[in-house]
Amino acid sequence: MEVANAVVMAQRLLRPKLVTAILVVDATAGNGNDTLFLADNTPNTTVVWAFDIQTQALTKTQELLTNHELDYKVHLVLDSHAHIPKYINQPVDAAMFNLGYLPGGDHAISTSSDTTIQAIAQTLQLLAADGLVTIAAYPGYEHGRLELQAVHEYLTSLSQKMFTVACWSMVNQKNSPPVLYVIEKIRSEQLEGSTSLKD
Ligand SMILES: C[S@@+](CC[C@H](N)C(=O)[O-])C[C@H]1O[C@@H](n2cnc3c(N)ncnc32)[C@H](O)[C@@H]1O
Repeated sequence: MEVANAVVMAQRLLRPKLVTAILVVDATAGNGNDTLFLADNTPNTTVVWAFDIQTQALTKTQELLTNHELDYKVHLVLDSHAHIPKYINQPVDAAMFNLGYLPGGDHAISTSSDTTIQAIAQTLQLLAADGLVTIAAYPGYEHGRLELQAVHEYLTSLSQKMFTVACWSMVNQKNSPPVLYVIEKIRSEQLEGSTSLKD
């Protein structure tokens, strides 16, 4: 097996989960690559929700999905992922966060710590037992480094009775390569009625 970067690793980890997924979320649609990955690797009946705050991103995502004839299963939402519960009230089987700015777009429009953490927390509340969330974070620029720090701090505070949280990054690459966080919700029979995200 080739050692993969954060984005490829996220896909490898998610693929087996997607085979039986009913509802999945791309929290940051961007150019649509992750939305396409989710749509392409789930059954025809799976519903994919994809969020972005930029029209430009959703236009790109729509184009990509249409070209692959996969737009029928995707809801594109022009809104912040901080408002996920406004749109979704069913269990989420898998969710992807690919933080940062739109490649090829305005670098000033980027995900930011507060809304990212709010969205992660809301996604974890909706996450199905055995569900997976992946978060690719980019410490290669100052805003991204601070966001990664905040996300890391939040994730380390999560209840280990409820979640398994892991982290993956290349440790011998220059220029602060992306870091992948993976959160798995513990199976319901092991949860013993616990609902709080933190211990
Ligand atoms: C790194 S890009 C995502 C890459 C994308 N998943 C892909 O496959 O091409 C990050 C995206 O997050 C979006 N974004 C920033 N803040 C957001 C928010 N609060 N809610 C949803 N999307 C947001 C940006 O507009 C940008 O398009």
